[in-house]
Amino acid sequence: MDKSPKRIGELFDDISPNYDLLNHLLSMSVDVGWRELALKELEIRKGDVILDVATGTGDMALKTRSSVDCTIVGIDLSRNMLKTAMQKWDARFPGGTFMALQGNALQMPFADDSFDRSMVAFGIRNMIDIGGFLDEAHRVLRPHGHMAILEFSVPPYPLVRQLYLLYLTRVLPFIGGLRSGNRGAYQYLSESIRRFPSPGSIEELLVQHHFRTVRSLPLTLGVCHLYIIEKM
Ligand SMILES: C[S@@+](CC[C@H](N)C(=O)[O-])C[C@H]1O[C@@H](n2cnc3c(N)ncnc32)[C@H](O)[C@@H]1O
Repeated sequence: MDKSPKRIGELFDDISPNYDLLNHLLSMSVDVGWRELALKELEIRKGDVILDVATGTGDMALKTRSSVDCTIVGIDLSRNMLKTAMQKWDARFPGGTFMALQGNALQMPFADDSFDRSMVAFGIRNMIDIGGFLDEAHRVLRPHGHMAILEFSVPPYPLVRQLYLLYLTRVLPFIGGLRSGNRGAYQYLSESIRRFPSPGSIEELLVQHHFRTVRSLPLTLGVCHLYIIEKM
């Protein structure tokens, strides 16, 4: 799969006008609960400086700022996704600051140990080098800082797995393509979920990149997985 930053940035630029609607429609809004759980587990405190990697249209950033008074920095490859994030932020917190910048999570323009907490929701599977991203995330997080990773996964139970794969290969590209006019983008999204490493493999990778897994939680029958990890 071509996961070059240029291609991924263009793909999300293209689907950005429909992203929020389709995201909630296709996940039947269960993602709202997953996001809330990730934030609860991250235990963000007042005044913390938070990094939202692959911030997209800013749902995690907005949810974070709605629950606690902290500083949030978002980074994403896609200019159009970031534009939507800024519009949502301005409507919700007029005059508030959201530092959103266009850039690659594998080479972030931040000093070492800059952030108290960080998160990446549904972004890591689009990255060309997951290990490279983990090294970069480790560098910018303060020692013992925590990061939340939310990502889709393929359920382990045979029947649920079969139904889910049917949904991924048929329903998702069909509805996504119909609504956005870009069936190829939704085929890519479906394939990127199917090919993403299992929770066990991700946990091994986390150890290799000097993170301790604090919590590893399958969500909604294993359709999604939440990892809370600590920089060692
Ligand atoms: C599926 S969206 C998720 C957006 C948001 N985090 C959410 O929870 O809705 C994936 C986002 O990851 C971004 N992305 C993918 N690879 C990236 C990279 N290497 N660096 C920065 N952003 C990246 C894409 O541009 C896209 O906006």
